Amino acid sequence: MFEALRLPLMCAPMSFASSPPLAVACCQAGILGGWQGGRVTRAAAFEGYLAALEGVGGAPPIVNLPARIFTDPDGEQKLALLRRVRAPLVLSSVGDPTELVGLVHDWGGRIIQDVTTLRHAEKSLAAGVDGLMVTCAGAGGQTGFLSPLAFVPAVRRIWDGLLIVGGGIADARGVAAVLALGGDIACMGTRFIATPQSGVAQAHRAMIARASIDSVVVSAAMNGVPGNWLRESLVAVGLDPATLPDHRIEMPDGVRPWRDIYSAGHSVALIDETEEVGAIVERLARELDALVPQAPWRARLAAIQSGWRP
Ligand SMILES: Cc1cc2nc3c(=O)[nH]c(=O)nc-3n(C[C@H](O)[C@H](O)[C@H](O)COP(=O)(O)O)c2cc1C
Repeated sequence: MFEALRLPLMCAPMSFASSPPLAVACCQAGILGGWQGGRVTRAAAFEGYLAALEGVGGAPPIVNLPARIFTDPDGEQKLALLRRVRAPLVLSSVGDPTELVGLVHDWGGRIIQDVTTLRHAEKSLAAGVDGLMVTCAGAGGQTGFLSPLAFVPAVRRIWDGLLIVGGGIADARGVAAVLALGGDIACMGTRFIATPQSGVAQAHRAMIARASIDSVVVSAAMNGVPGNWLRESLVAVGLDPATLPDHRIEMPDGVRPWRDIYSAGHSVALIDETEEVGAIVERLARELDALVPQAPWRARLAAIQSGWRP
């Protein structure tokens, strides 16, 4: 499944931002196409993703499911659909993936757990996941807090299998850094919001392009867990970034976080314009080749894949 990768890169699952056109464009361009299959995606939309991705070819898609998918009213239906298409890759997040591991393996898929602490990594490995994604400091959405400079090598001490690294990465140097630290695949979210294919409002793309790293505010006020938000979008809905408390607050009338208050990570620092997915992937692949010619990531991913039991 990794043979079709143009470079060791994944587009992060980002609720409605990773729209079907974005997931499709990523797979076609040769990077893992993340999409969100949890509660924010109702059953009909879920089927829409699967229909859009059917027969697309290229690199595989990767669907994000919360480990507690069984509490989603549409959960059984979604799992049956994934079983029917034998979804190759599932990115599990939040909680104990044990139940999901059995199901995904049963249809022949591989399951990777998204973690932000070493303890969660250890527990997930004990549950039998096939890989880990470490979400580090600076990530868009509900961010991690650990520096990748220490977290990636720390995880490598306990795990020699597939390791995806996300948080604050938007250029080829970031991908090269992931490989140098011992990671296998880099993950970018914010970078792919600033594409015509993403499912956000044009104002969100434009705000990412003009934001600086100092424009990113971490706050739990929007939904109770710390996330990274663009200062300008907070001010636009009448919130004062300087006085936000560290707990969930009532939003101004009619304001919905994510839709009206824009999330993005530290990687806004490296994004100056909206760009087509295919152009981004080609440029990053060329730049990575120039930075680290003959980097052995392809052989390493082939070895991981051949080590996975049929
Ligand atoms: C607008 C937005 C929405 C996101 N939604 C989700 C989500 O639904 N599920 C999830 O696991 N991660 C979500 N994330 C986090 C991403 O999966 C990923 O960890 C992050 O974007 C990586 O950092 P970067 O944005 O600096 O590249 C979201 C991120 C953003 C920016």
